[in-house]
Order: sequence, then C-alpha cells, then structure tokens
Amino acid sequence: EDYELGEHSDFMHKEMHEQVEAVDRCTRGRLDDAAATARLDGLRLEPRDCRKIQRVTFVGCGSAYYAGQIGANLVEELARIPADAEPASEFRYRNPIVDPDTLYVAVSQSGETHDTLAAVRELQRKGATVVGAVNNASSSIARACGAGVFLHAGPEVSVAATKSFTTMVVAFALMGLKLGRVRDLPAARAERLIGALRQLPGQIETVLKQEDHITAIVRRYRDARHLFYVGRVRGWPVAREGAQKLKEISYLHAEAYQAGELKHGPLALITPQMPTVAVIPDDDLLPRNISTVEEIKARGGPVIAVTSADLPAGLCDEVIRVPSGEPQLDPLLSSVALQVFAWAWAKELGREVDRPRNLAKSVTVE
Ligand code: G6P
Repeated sequence: EDYELGEHSDFMHKEMHEQVEAVDRCTRGRLDDAAATARLDGLRLEPRDCRKIQRVTFVGCGSAYYAGQIGANLVEELARIPADAEPASEFRYRNPIVDPDTLYVAVSQSGETHDTLAAVRELQRKGATVVGAVNNASSSIARACGAGVFLHAGPEVSVAATKSFTTMVVAFALMGLKLGRVRDLPAARAERLIGALRQLPGQIETVLKQEDHITAIVRRYRDARHLFYVGRVRGWPVAREGAQKLKEISYLHAEAYQAGELKHGPLALITPQMPTVAVIPDDDLLPRNISTVEEIKARGGPVIAVTSADLPAGLCDEVIRVPSGEPQLDPLLSSVALQVFAWAWAKELGREVDRPRNLAKSVTVE
C-alpha cells in the first residue's frame, strides 16, 4: 500500500502529506510529560554520559546535512552544548580531529549513503562515539552505529526528501530536550516544547492546505529562472534546504544566502526578474529580517516571505504563512511550506517530480 499513489499525482505529493502521520510516529512513546523530557533509549546514553558531552557534531549529505544544521541549532539552544553540522564528504576527507567528549550524529534517510558510512567508519576507527539518526533500521549505517534514534518516517520513494527531513528535525528536537534536561533546560520550557511537538501534525496539515495559494504565487513568477533564498540563524538552513529542493526538482537556479551577507556581494544580482524567498521566523531577529526585505525591495527585487510573523502590510509581494508556535520548531513548518513551493514549481514546469535527472535517491558510491 505504501507504494501506491492513491489520490496523489506523484510520490513527493503523497509523502509531503504523509508528514502529518510520520511526525506523530516519530514522537510516539518518546515524550515524557512527568519528567518533561524525551525518552530516546536507543541512544544508549545515561544522564551521566549526556553531562559529559562537550560538543555535538552532525554529519550527513544533502537534505540530511541541512537537517543536521537545524539539529545543531536545536541542540545549542536547548542544551547549551556547542554544536555544528558538516557534509559527510568534507568531514571524512579533512582528517577530522576526533574528540572523545564529542557526540557524533550520522544522519541518513537510507542509511546507505557512501560518504556518510565512510565518515562513521573513520570516526569509529579513531574511537569516537557515533550514534545514528536513520530511517532504514536494517541499513549499513544503522548497523555500524549500533545506537541511535530511528526516524519512523516510513518508506520514502521520491528522490526529494520530505518526511525523512521533517522527522530528522523532530528527532533532533527530542535529542535537544534529552540533553538539555540533564543540564540546565528549565522544566517549564521543556513542557512548552513538548506541547509544541504535539501540535506539529495539525500545523503541518495547515501548511499543506495552502497548496493552491502557493501554486498561484508560483504562476505569477513563472518566467523567473533564478531565485535567491535568504534566512538568518534559524532561517538559514531552511533557506538552504528550500533552495536545494527547488534546484533538484524544477531545475531552476536557486541560491541560498545568509540574510546578513547579501549586502557583501549578491545584492548586485537583485533585479525585478530575480525573486527572493525570505524565511522569516517570528523570533527576536524579526526587525533584522524586515530590514533585509527592505534592502531587496529598494533594489526592485520581488520578495516572497515564508513566515509565522505578522509582517507590516505591503512589505512583501507575496506571503506564505506558517502557523506560529515555539520558534524552535519554526524551521520545520517553513521547510514544509518550501517543499510545497518547489513541488508546485516543478509541476508548473512539467518536470518529472519523483525522478529528477542526474540524481539518485541514495548515493552508495563515492
Ligand atoms: C541523495 C539524495 C538526497 C539525500 C542525500 C542523502 O543525494 O538525492 O535527497 O538528501 O542523498 O541521503 P540519505 O539517504 O543519506 O539521507
């Protein structure tokens, strides 16, 4: 049944809709209300192990790497442990210094990506602690890691990652909760996040319902051949993943930039023919993001905002609204909106959404 399209025109569409259920599955049995924490027994980390961790490093490829970047932000915010993410291919070849107090997280939907598996083996050779964040439980990476968190996204057929990406982000929020609660994350904040995680399935549904609105926006910019995606801090990995999705399935040129870096070069490219997708979470950086939009508008560039904030009327040309909740989870909802945006663009241009040219679902060779 998983491999039948039913009412959907393609697997990407089906899998975007399955996110409602997948995110629910990923949290099921893992939310501990009494202790205001997450139960992730598969990590095999006792509280005393968690307290020893001095850094968390996520490694993965493609969308798994971008999910890892969101994960690093979540762990830093919730657990106040320095965290970063790196593409597995770069990581394995730069002879990384392996620190015994770093927790390494190998992120992979398939669990078979060659570069990620090679990074795991290299880390283990150097005596590091590596856990997996993997969808396929019987995969090489899951077996090599031995410990980790399964994503429970269900089978993903479309080359473009959708439900595997969102469940990765959920898994990292749970990891941030678990690590945070044996350090100094207050119970009240943890309880709020747990409540927000429970609301995610319904909120994802709300985002998906905007398909017609998003398609109408795409039609208005149909002639564009290049797009910018900008975001800062929480919005930055969302912009990267959003641009990647558009490139993969529509073959348009999309470039992601940190919002603050625009003025150091790329602003020269802004014209009325080059729309910018601005990822604007409802957080402390809202005024900064509003001035970025103003900079782009002043140069004649159209702006499509993906936002949970109430933006000043008329600021942006188009607005894709995502439900507001805990700002930490805003990247997940904005990413779903950008999946729909990329999908609508690919459909509009008549692309074969599930099987983009030159790409494979899982790259098992070097
Ligand atoms: C391929 C796919 C990407 C995916 C990446 C990592 O390049 O086209 O969509 O993000 O591999 O795959 P993994 O299975 O390791 O998550």
